[in-house]
Amino acid sequence: MNWKFLLTGIGIGGFVLYFSSCSKTSEDKLSGSANCDTMNVKYSTQVVAILNDNCYECHKGSGIVTSGSNVNLGDYAHVKQYVDQGWVKSAITHDGTVTPMPYQRPQLPDCEIKTILAWINAGAPNN
Ligand code: HEC
Repeated sequence: MNWKFLLTGIGIGGFVLYFSSCSKTSEDKLSGSANCDTMNVKYSTQVVAILNDNCYECHKGSGIVTSGSNVNLGDYAHVKQYVDQGWVKSAITHDGTVTPMPYQRPQLPDCEIKTILAWINAGAPNN
């Protein structure tokens, strides 16, 4: 077994992986922020659309029971409660204080996280 050859191979492989993953991440970040409009975010359209696509399945109606989550995000009053507790922000930003959401799935795209955070920072209005 030629150990030198093996080590060089691992080294080059790691090098290539490191750089390809790095450039992909920065590309995603750039395109995400360039097209992401977080001005005057509306609960009734933008926030509800994100919750509908990513959260209602387990946090609205019978989904609450079947997912075992106990957390109702199905209407404004309930969402506002969890926002005020800081749980919605912690759940979508994966800051480690609550279980990361969406549950056992990849984190939301950058722009969807920014949209919800902008709405929360504006006081989470029922607009
Ligand atoms: C596949 C089902 C599923 C999806 C999709 C999902 N959740 Fe959850 N959620 C759960 C479960 C199960 C729990 C309870 C987790 C626990 O107790 O550790 C939970 C808990 C929570 C909590 C309470 C935090 C905690 O630690 O108990 C919040 C807030 C939350 N989810 C928000 C969201 C938001 C916002 C989305 C959409 C971006 C989402 N969830 C998507 C299943 C889901």
